Amino acid sequence: MKEKINGILVNYEQCGDNSLPALVLVHGFPFGLEMWRPQLEMLSSRFRVIAYDVRGFGGSECGDGQYTLEFFVDDLVGLLDHLNIEKAAVCGLSMGGYIALRAYERNPEYFSALILADTRAEADSNEAKLKRAAAIRAVKADGPARYAEGFIKSVFAGETLSKRADLVESAKQLIASNSAQGIAGALLAMASRNDLTHVLGLIGVPVLILVGESDSLTPPELARALQEKIPNATLEVVPQAGHLSSLENPAAFNSSVAAFLSRL
Ligand code: MLT
Repeated sequence: MKEKINGILVNYEQCGDNSLPALVLVHGFPFGLEMWRPQLEMLSSRFRVIAYDVRGFGGSECGDGQYTLEFFVDDLVGLLDHLNIEKAAVCGLSMGGYIALRAYERNPEYFSALILADTRAEADSNEAKLKRAAAIRAVKADGPARYAEGFIKSVFAGETLSKRADLVESAKQLIASNSAQGIAGALLAMASRNDLTHVLGLIGVPVLILVGESDSLTPPELARALQEKIPNATLEVVPQAGHLSSLENPAAFNSSVAAFLSRL
């Protein structure tokens, strides 16, 4: 389904009955709602599961490709309003976590719970900003398919890369199906995002932190440090998974999410 939100068509999918508690899924960079397929399929008997393409990705329009993280938050809030969702559990993975956390800071009234997967609260360091600049150059020069080849190696656990060729290939395809303009826009938005560390101590809803045991981008130590700064947070390490824990081990990821939400 597509809906015009903040001037662009936003593509979203929902599974599960409208009467069930809402769970909104915000994908990581540089994928799309398709990365949440196992969650849409497996969690919709208990929750109204909504996943959408962040602007510039999947079936959502790109606009002019000039984004800040604030635009991404505006779109999330716009989608909740369009769907008449007054309160939702919002689950964001990596970039999706940046969006969810900033959305919580701006509009906590929409949140019944927060699920932060394979993510961090800190803004980019100087070094990370230079890496973003190099990535923007690379994706514009070589295109998303070439960019996907290099990028994919950092997001999966070694075991996934060596033993699950189909999963790795479909993730590459997902990246390659996006435009260079959308990918570059998201890189700029992430490089210019605020540090959100100060928000952590103020979170007033239950928080679940999930992290793949072999996540090398936002490793378990970082997830533990995140947990220590949040008053009411549970941390669960997802076995046999890297940075894309929801895709690499959906059974463990989903069972943690379902158990957490059923305790609310
Ligand atoms: C992601 O998975 O969304 C990215 O690793 C986020 C980032 O590049 O900071």
